[in-house]
Amino acid sequence: MAGKIMQAVQYDSYGGGAAALKHVEVPVPTPKKDEVLLKVEATSINPLDCKIQKGMFRPLLPPKFPFIPATDVTGEVVEVGSNVKSFKAGDKVVAMLSTKSGGGLAEYAVPKESLTVSRPAEVSAAEGAGLLIAGLTALQALVNPAEVKLNGTGPRKNILVTAASGGVGHYAVQLAKLGNAHVTATCGARNFDFVKSLGADEILDYKIPEGAALKSPSGQKYDAVINCTTGIPWSTFEPNLSSSGKVIDLTPGASSMWTFAVKKLTFSKKQLVPFLLNAKKENLELLVRLVKEGKLKTVIDSKFPLSKAEDAWSRSIDGHATGKIFVEP
Ligand SMILES: NC(=O)c1ccc[n+]([C@@H]2O[C@H](COP(=O)([O-])OP(=O)(O)OC[C@H]3O[C@@H](n4cnc5c(N)ncnc54)[C@H](OP(=O)(O)O)[C@@H]3O)[C@@H](O)[C@H]2O)c1
Repeated sequence: MAGKIMQAVQYDSYGGGAAALKHVEVPVPTPKKDEVLLKVEATSINPLDCKIQKGMFRPLLPPKFPFIPATDVTGEVVEVGSNVKSFKAGDKVVAMLSTKSGGGLAEYAVPKESLTVSRPAEVSAAEGAGLLIAGLTALQALVNPAEVKLNGTGPRKNILVTAASGGVGHYAVQLAKLGNAHVTATCGARNFDFVKSLGADEILDYKIPEGAALKSPSGQKYDAVINCTTGIPWSTFEPNLSSSGKVIDLTPGASSMWTFAVKKLTFSKKQLVPFLLNAKKENLELLVRLVKEGKLKTVIDSKFPLSKAEDAWSRSIDGHATGKIFVEP
């Protein structure tokens, strides 16, 4: 593909939101020896992508401008690097690009073989692309800090999932149910039926005081909270936790880090756990298998063509997706 040109969407500086995305023609990337070149079929947008553009991870991310954002892709393998053994041209795959390199909002992308897995025919391109940051985060938060066994063989846990209608939350509810947990979920009233359909046992409306207090209607105390939202103080979580309950905070800010430190230093049994995804191939393979077997679904909020990527970007910044947002070249 050397010398071929592709359509891509990039930005040149921090800030500016959707209006700062530019449609450009750039060379198709050449895979390094441990990379595969994909013709992209679907890209999932995550809040992280827009936060990087905002400059929330400066100066580390993005490492340079211009930057083609987005990491979560599915596609068809077109070429492989010299060391790649598991894939060949024509294979359908689900893959995660590094947050440093980005590259998802383009017709072609070059993930590493180590974060690329096969996509079976039963899993659509969009269903696969949703599983990366959002699905992996839900899985790792539940399995590791929350200690839920996804095959349902562990002790029954009481789990609270906040923002259960969003990208991470909708996977977390389903995976927690596979793990035989009792699930309480928060969402807006418009999403009650949706979150119930994912398997949640009880629902709290985050927009009314009773729901915002996070108190389980049936009196459950939570062994773990998968906190997919922001702005809820520790004092709201604390009375609703079991004696050794944990709040797993996906978006830890200064006050979370303070609570984390205080709870550690005082040997508190109730803990706040700041969470950072560490993407692993075996976790991704499990998620793809669960979708293939019909045990997990990716709910599609919306799909946009690459020519309208800025609309997908705005939709993500708005923070009101039900499920996942996709761009399809
Ligand atoms: N640490 C990590 O490694 C990691 C990994 C993945 C994600 N994250 C973070 O996790 C957070 C969630 O990500 P996401 O992809 O799930 O976001 P998302 O898909 O954009 O979430 C949108 C959903 O959240 C709901 N929501 C917003 N505020 C709420 C509240 N206060 N209570 C209940 N529901 C609320 C919205 O419902 P309404 O429309 O009804 O408001 C909407 O359905 C983001 O901050 C993201 O950056 C962190």
